[in-house]
Amino acid sequence: MKGVILAGGSGTRMKPLTSITNKHLLPIYDRPMVTYAIEAMVNSGISEIMVVTGGTHAGEFLRLLGNGEPWGIGRLTYAYQEKPGGIAEALGLAERFVDREKVAVMLADNIFERSIAGIVSNFEAQSAGARIVLSKVDDASHLKSLGVAVFDGEKVTGIIEKPEEPPSPFAVTGVYFYDSSVFEVISHLVPSGRGELEITDVNNHYIRQGSMGYDILDGYWGDAGESIDAYYQVNDFVRTHGANKG
Ligand code: G1P
Repeated sequence: MKGVILAGGSGTRMKPLTSITNKHLLPIYDRPMVTYAIEAMVNSGISEIMVVTGGTHAGEFLRLLGNGEPWGIGRLTYAYQEKPGGIAEALGLAERFVDREKVAVMLADNIFERSIAGIVSNFEAQSAGARIVLSKVDDASHLKSLGVAVFDGEKVTGIIEKPEEPPSPFAVTGVYFYDSSVFEVISHLVPSGRGELEITDVNNHYIRQGSMGYDILDGYWGDAGESIDAYYQVNDFVRTHGANKG
């Protein structure tokens, strides 16, 4: 399985911190944010990784990650997103890199307390389609800024992006798994109201097709790029409890 780490975007919600650097290079406890996503993938046995970034600070990723050896990456490649066009557009840039393999996609501002190795194995075992990872979020107002799963019994029947009225307490985290049909799906997307190609539209496609699997996360999950307060909350958590623990 290949790995794609999405580290672009303009970081609007974190200005002025992001006026001087890319959001994913800001520190989480003792190292830059993007290195947690790399660690999560490498610890799950994914050794071929593409980092997709953009903006004026893209060169800093090369300085930090180089060819990937110090971070345990077997093969590291980069793609440059010309303008922030959404998560699905950024993933589209990885088409040739992924080729016909399965792919694990991770938003570089998502931090997980526990290893995702078990979830990666679950997708290895899944014959086709896609897989999402859900996390129970008790604060309903927080759910309004995330993608939220709709359930019918145990079955996920849809995802609503930034719902006014959250349909369940299960947020869609920023780690996604796809077979190589995802690039065909992306090519048919149309931009959402916020002018982006939405990963939620991709996921709803696989849900409609009946080929979406899911896992419910154990342990803490934080989106450090959601706001400056969220950023500090994730920092506090990682400093006290660590991340990507086996
Ligand atoms: C994105 C996704 C959303 C998901 C979130 C997780 O939101 O669109 O479904 O819950 O990442 O971090 P965004 O950060 O683009 O607002």
